[in-house]
Amino acid sequence: MTFVVQRSSQLRATLLLLLVAASPATAQVTLAEYQQRRAALASQLPEGVFVARGGEEPVEDYRSFFQSPGFFYLTGYREPGAALLMHKQGTAVQWFLFVQERNPSVEVWSGRRYGPERAGRATGLSALPASRFRPTLDSLLRTTSRLTALVDLAEGGDTLNRDDRFLEELRRDFPNLEIAGANAIVDRMRGTKSAAELDLISRAAYISALAHREAARAIRPGASEFEVQAALEATFRRHGADRPAYASIVGSGPNSTVLHYNRNDCFMESGELLLIDAAASYGGYAADITRTFPVSGRFSPEQRAIYEVVRAAQARVERLLRPGTPFRALNDTARAVLAEGLARIGLIDSASATYECSTGRQRQCSQLSLFYMHGLGHGIGLVVHDPEQAYYPPGTLGPGSAFTIEPGLYVRDNLLDIVPDTPANASFRARLARLLPRYANIGVRIEDDYIVTNEGVRWISCAVPREPDEVEVLVRGDNARSSAPERLADWYKTLIVEPSEARPGTPAPPRCPPLPRN
Ligand code: GLY
Ligand code: MN
Ligand code: MN
Repeated sequence: MTFVVQRSSQLRATLLLLLVAASPATAQVTLAEYQQRRAALASQLPEGVFVARGGEEPVEDYRSFFQSPGFFYLTGYREPGAALLMHKQGTAVQWFLFVQERNPSVEVWSGRRYGPERAGRATGLSALPASRFRPTLDSLLRTTSRLTALVDLAEGGDTLNRDDRFLEELRRDFPNLEIAGANAIVDRMRGTKSAAELDLISRAAYISALAHREAARAIRPGASEFEVQAALEATFRRHGADRPAYASIVGSGPNSTVLHYNRNDCFMESGELLLIDAAASYGGYAADITRTFPVSGRFSPEQRAIYEVVRAAQARVERLLRPGTPFRALNDTARAVLAEGLARIGLIDSASATYECSTGRQRQCSQLSLFYMHGLGHGIGLVVHDPEQAYYPPGTLGPGSAFTIEPGLYVRDNLLDIVPDTPANASFRARLARLLPRYANIGVRIEDDYIVTNEGVRWISCAVPREPDEVEVLVRGDNARSSAPERLADWYKTLIVEPSEARPGTPAPPRCPPLPRN
């Protein structure tokens, strides 16, 4: 069995290499596409003024700057301290981009800035110095009482506070101003990805999958979680990815059951699982992949039982993936497979069993929720939890969808501290007490990425295996070395750093095999 798997891994590695070499040139986000996005936004906005501010230069100059996703979506402009303004009057729409000016003595620190002239050429927008932003906005607000603002929340509280302060100032200076949010409109647009965006997400997923393969080579009893993290993140960067798309989760043993664990500072032991949830951002677009490995290269029977239930849930959901599938149906299917599997193993009384989860009000919670407490998946794009068209009516997948499917089961060793000690819970607690010695600290999540094109659904994270025999082989290291083509970093040379630049295409990421169908 193992031999067959090993052969198939080698075959897959060779196949991927061949496919990379043979694939056609790729799409990119062009100037015309940014212009179309702005035109589509303008057509949905009321008359008046629209504003979106880009990210600020970090206060501490040792921090990296990354552009605010919403602003980036509308402009493709990567420098800090920029702002986008639109004035709409009847059918007349005027756009302005405000950017930092060139300043030779500041550039000693910051490096060369675009300045208005080059920024205008690069983006196709009328570009002005950033110092003109407030005077221009103020003069427009004297002619209209309507402002729509895109507030970027993705970088966390600071951005929100900065935008809050900005809008407060405007309210003070223009007491009659009606301010409305544009986030819902822009999010909805972002929920349907273009061909160029799907291509970038596929590249991010491919690089991330290669990184998981490299990470698996660093797994062994006694190794640290941070060594594995280093292998992952070095691989991201080596292949030209921008950065980790989110804090890498590398959790061994008990840490595999902590959903947002990211300290990654423990040493792994034989017999434990290692859960890796880590992926790259490439050209600004995020992937999101999780694999769960046995540290010693072989699952225990209990680990394998849980793993197979999680994988069965993912496989069952994959059979339903097609344009028109409601996200809700996927969730319900995954929950049913996970619950049936846990009931079969014996960790819960039955697939529909509940327990008394709050003693005061005697509220009932599903027993499943003790082991599976997160959603099945989410959109991916400019941020790792990106808007997705299936979030909006009619709530279904369609061409331009990009999303994850990530079922998991987590057996915490402290479940008896979580399930209240009440008469109604007595038999369930006895069941847990009996089984926890064998199952505690088993945390399994399997997370893959998918896109929908006019041809249907494509699985894009297949370059790292996920079948239980295959992940064992990967850890044991008797598989073929990562299939990364030597010149994968050349992909980076074709990324558009200025929207106006035309770059030659490079081969697209390899195609994953088609998903099985019912
Ligand atoms: N890595 C974040 C998530 O899986 O949603
Ligand atoms: Mn995810
Ligand atoms: Mn994830």
